[in-house]
Amino acid sequence: MKGVILAGGLGTRLYPLTKVTNKHLLPVFNKPMIFYPIETLVKAGITDIMVVTGGPHCGHFLSILKNGHELGIKHLEYAYQENEGGIADALSLAREFVEKDSVAVILGDNTSDADITKPVNDFKEGALIFLKEVPDPERFGIATLDPNDSSKIIKITEKPQVPDSNMAVTGVYIYDNQVFDFIDAIKPSGRGELEITDVNNRYVEKGQLSWCELEGYWWDAGTFDTLLEANNYWAKKDKGQQNK
Ligand code: G1P
Repeated sequence: MKGVILAGGLGTRLYPLTKVTNKHLLPVFNKPMIFYPIETLVKAGITDIMVVTGGPHCGHFLSILKNGHELGIKHLEYAYQENEGGIADALSLAREFVEKDSVAVILGDNTSDADITKPVNDFKEGALIFLKEVPDPERFGIATLDPNDSSKIIKITEKPQVPDSNMAVTGVYIYDNQVFDFIDAIKPSGRGELEITDVNNRYVEKGQLSWCELEGYWWDAGTFDTLLEANNYWAKKDKGQQNK
C-alpha cells in the first residue's frame, strides 16, 4: 500500500503564521506538524510516501523532510498542487505514484497516536474511513449510520448545520484504486473544491464504504485553538513518556 499526505492550501485560518511557512510545517510541540501523519504511516509499515503540497512555501518541505530516510520513509515523492482545488483534487495528483496499488491518505494537519497497522494489513477493496466522536460536528464531515446496523454508513455530509450524529470523518482514509476514477467523476462543490466527502459518498453508493473508530488521540490542527490543543496534548504525552 502506498501513502499520501495532503499538505497543500494556504492555511488562511492561521494567518499570520502561515505567511512565513506552510501550515503543515508549523510546530506541534517539538516537531513540524507533518511529522505526525508521516509517523502514523511509517508505524503501519507504509514507507512509500508522496507529499502533495502547494502554495508559496512548498520548498520548505524539502529542507526538513529531504529524502525522508531520517523518518523511516524508504521512498519519498512530492507533487505540487496548483491553486486550492480541495482535498480530492490534491489526491488526484498521486494517481501515477499509486499506480495500481491501494492508498492510505492522511491530511497533513491531522495528528494522531492511533495505530492503523491492522486496518492497513486487513484492507482488501473499497474504502475504509476512520470515525471519531466529536463535540463540534458542524466542523467536520459527519457520518449518518444505519439505525438498524451501525456498521453501515448511509451517507456522509460535509460540515452539516444540523448534524445527524457526532461521528466525524477524520482525515485518515484507505482507498482502493477506484478512488481516482471517482475523483474524475465528481464536480466542484459550492466552495469551488473537489470534496473528499463526495468521493466517499461514491463508495457509499456502491456499498463499498466501511468504517472503524480511530482509536487513541486524534485532532486536526488547522485553527489557532486546535493547534494549541494539539501542542498541549503532545507536550503532555512527551513529558509523560520521559517520566516513565
Ligand atoms: C476536511 C474534510 C472533512 C474532515 C476533516 C478532518 O475538512 O473535508 O470531511 O472531517 O477534514 O480534519 P477541512 O479541515 O479541510 O475543512
